[in-house]
Amino acid sequence: MKILIVYYSMYGHVLQLAEAVAEGAASVEGAEVLLRRVEEFEAVDRIIDGNEYAAQIREKQKGIPVCTLHDLKEADAVLFGSPTRFGNMAAQMKQLIDSMASLWLKGEMEGKPAGVFTSTASCHGGQETTLLTMMTPLLHLGMVIVGVPYSIPGMIHTEGRGGTPYGASTIAGARGELMPAAEDLEIARAQGRRVAEIAGKLRR
Ligand SMILES: Cc1cc2nc3c(=O)[nH]c(=O)nc-3n(C[C@H](O)[C@H](O)[C@H](O)COP(=O)(O)O)c2cc1C
Repeated sequence: MKILIVYYSMYGHVLQLAEAVAEGAASVEGAEVLLRRVEEFEAVDRIIDGNEYAAQIREKQKGIPVCTLHDLKEADAVLFGSPTRFGNMAAQMKQLIDSMASLWLKGEMEGKPAGVFTSTASCHGGQETTLLTMMTPLLHLGMVIVGVPYSIPGMIHTEGRGGTPYGASTIAGARGELMPAAEDLEIARAQGRRVAEIAGKLRR
């Protein structure tokens, strides 16, 4: 069973969550995990050329294949990760989802479990709005949304870190200076594991 993790990340925080989600999914028996990145816009690529840190993160991701429609069609479950942009997913991720019309027409994504995860600069920068609005097109595609239940350790907390019932998350800081907390990564692992387990149950 193929578990696809597709993410977009400019400064590396969503990349770290994606890697943790992938680890969690890989811990499920029978799961073949595919980690894929969303293709960068040419205009943004040119801006990144002039930003040493973003260019370094881009370099780090070069070995991760770009997600194709074939990857999405072949997947038994998909986890989508995007940074928050004005309380919503990044346009790069929306562009990928908008390119799925041919899959929508044939019902190729229907019945497949889906999860979402995100990163914000600040505590109240819109993690929940991003995660909930990322779910909307996935429901149009007929996917079965899988969240993060409160039985997962670390979900009930009052610290400035991530972890929502809608999906894993983290706080990057205003200049991207923060790293995901250990608990954020653990919740991301649990989310990947849960989506893979549910995909296995649905296949059976
Ligand atoms: C155009 C733009 C809009 C953003 N909007 C928000 C926002 O609404 N709330 C927030 O907390 N952070 C916002 N951010 C910060 C990003 O969420 C942050 O850079 C991202 O979470 C880092 O993830 P990454 O390291 O995977 O790129 C915005 C950043 C950009 C460039």
